[in-house]
Amino acid sequence: IDELLAEGVSGKRVFVRADLNVPLDGTTITDDGRIRAVVPTVKALADAGARVVVASHLGRPKGAPDPAFSLAPAAARLGELLGAEVAFATDTVGESATATVAGLSDGGVAVIENLRFNAGETSKDDAERGAFADRLAALADVYVGDGFGAVHRKHASVFDLPARLPHAAGYLIATEVGVLKKLTDDVQRPYVVALGGAKVSDKLGVIDHLLEKADRILIGGGMAYTFLKAQGHEVGISLLQEDQVPAVLDYLKRAKERGVEFVLPVDVLVSDEFPDLKTKAPANPTTVAADAIPADEEGLDIGPETRKLYASKLADAGTVFWNGPMGVFEHPDYAEGTKAVAQALVDSPAFTVVGGGDSAAAVRILGFDEKAFGHISTGGGASLEYLEGKTLPGLAALED
Ligand code: 3PG
Repeated sequence: IDELLAEGVSGKRVFVRADLNVPLDGTTITDDGRIRAVVPTVKALADAGARVVVASHLGRPKGAPDPAFSLAPAAARLGELLGAEVAFATDTVGESATATVAGLSDGGVAVIENLRFNAGETSKDDAERGAFADRLAALADVYVGDGFGAVHRKHASVFDLPARLPHAAGYLIATEVGVLKKLTDDVQRPYVVALGGAKVSDKLGVIDHLLEKADRILIGGGMAYTFLKAQGHEVGISLLQEDQVPAVLDYLKRAKERGVEFVLPVDVLVSDEFPDLKTKAPANPTTVAADAIPADEEGLDIGPETRKLYASKLADAGTVFWNGPMGVFEHPDYAEGTKAVAQALVDSPAFTVVGGGDSAAAVRILGFDEKAFGHISTGGGASLEYLEGKTLPGLAALED
């Protein structure tokens, strides 16, 4: 983007593909981290006199307009953060978008409606995606890719549009790639990875890769129960991906061969019902040993002994990568595990990276100071796929 700014963008329509896919409670944004992350790029372009057209997806609407997934709240928040008026187009490539972009003056900013209100955005059919990219291209003279959270998607605005316009990477993408490159090329040891979240299947690729790179892997969240099952323990009605047990056994075996330490919970908080995340009514969980989960109960967070164990395993790290909450942190009775891991990262002198939409939102929602971490990635799937060494369509398109 610096080269683009040096060439001059005054009066040019610059399309910024951002990732404004923020968590919403109705129309209230519960974590605006992804919006704040794109502000430097939008501000630099606007200050240089560009007519900035910001576009993003939000959620997974079905290729047609759906008010529940409108970007209007995100556009309003962007305006507050910029301290400037931000116009909002109520469609993506229709009359409203065309008129809104035409109405921009130099230095003006507009947000167009959710890209996924058009089936062409996510289509698997190259021609359909290309046709939508053509319509997006008509709105701009230049493309800036800055939606790091979406670079692993082969979508029209991420992959096809940059091929149609002069293009550059924004500040957020440059920072994210710089940090993740450090984790792959130049890591300070011990390299400790904490992985949580619901599903083992989402983490297969990254675990595979980390077995070659990491010194220690701590497992929490819903995926821990598949690991406990693989170790021969009963897990009651906890989240379990039975079909992943063979893969997990293979990881445990390979980790042993390679001298990678795999650390599993030694105790967990259990209950016979999932907590009410809306009312946050007290859930009164009990703590049990990880090998003694009652048949009619489910594990919903790591227990106090595991919190201590994981903190000690993180204390001497040179580098930490953390992806995925340790429990159902959205409920206060199950937030302690995620808090303990976040606190261990804060206390650690290591270079710490929080990756993943959920864990990044968790540290902010739980009240941690973002500056206490080395880097909080805006990418969930994107950062995992980067670490897996995959080619990411949105980055490849910008390098081209
Ligand atoms: C994310 O939340 O990881 C990104 O915004 C991508 O969203 P998606 O998984 O719906 O493509």
